Amino acid sequence: MPRRYDYILGDSRIESARLARQAALWDPISHALFDRLRIRPGLRVLEIGPGRGSLHAELRRRLRGPADAVEHSATFASALQSACARDGFGEGTIWQCGLADADLPAGRYDVIFARWVFLFLPDVPRHLKRLVRALKPGGRLAVQDYLRDTLSMVPRPTDWDAFLDADRAFFATQGGDVNIGAHLPTLARAAGLLVEEASPTIKTGGPGSREWRWMSDYFLGVLDRYATLGPLSKKAAARLRAEWLAAAREKSSLIVAPAVLDVVARKKRG
Ligand SMILES: C[S@@+](CC[C@H](N)C(=O)[O-])C[C@H]1O[C@@H](n2cnc3c(N)ncnc32)[C@H](O)[C@@H]1O
Repeated sequence: MPRRYDYILGDSRIESARLARQAALWDPISHALFDRLRIRPGLRVLEIGPGRGSLHAELRRRLRGPADAVEHSATFASALQSACARDGFGEGTIWQCGLADADLPAGRYDVIFARWVFLFLPDVPRHLKRLVRALKPGGRLAVQDYLRDTLSMVPRPTDWDAFLDADRAFFATQGGDVNIGAHLPTLARAAGLLVEEASPTIKTGGPGSREWRWMSDYFLGVLDRYATLGPLSKKAAARLRAEWLAAAREKSSLIVAPAVLDVVARKKRG
């Protein structure tokens, strides 16, 4: 585990804009999860890593009141605070720090929600322990995160295996696990939770589709960083980029994105 936690994607304007495009594609899937969780007035909700806050705004809208948040980025936390001050639903607590450092109250929350945060976290069992403590008895942890195993492209680029290794290595630099969704149900059970749901959404698309743009946006944006980590040489990364761009000109090409797994787990009542 690294001595100091750095969030590897940062909060630059480019990353913020990418998060906004990604949210536009994925927020309906999260809204459907909020429907299943029956987010409604009176519940106490904590969101971890809201980023630009589109889902935090939706949680507040459904609660008709505030939700709390833990957000590592000072830029995102301060923008969230300003947005929350404008919507009339009142002030929640925002911890601007990493989840490991947030002094969460014990037994407070009906729902703790996180989308695309757990894959960055080192030592997930330790984080889960803190979250279980913060849940009320009967409260639920709802996490949307990647089951990376489905990620593939047709036609398969020459260096795909090295690319997948580099993808894993990138998240591992800060102790994260890009495939955390695959392990969350087991880890949640080990933390004493009852797993109620593990449901996947797999987006696929060809050139010109929103799904292709979403995947290209992220992967072509980080490819140069992936090429510094070992499994994928600079030469291989350049070839992968060229083959990716060539595939984008062929209408029969296809990307199958990593599955997003909705994992819902409940704290026992007694
Ligand atoms: C990929 S973004 C996802 C943002 C948002 N949840 C969404 O789905 O659009 C990850 C977010 O988690 C935050 N984050 C990363 N590590 C964190 C940590 N250890 N504790 C709290 N927030 C963290 C980042 O600052 C960023 O806002």
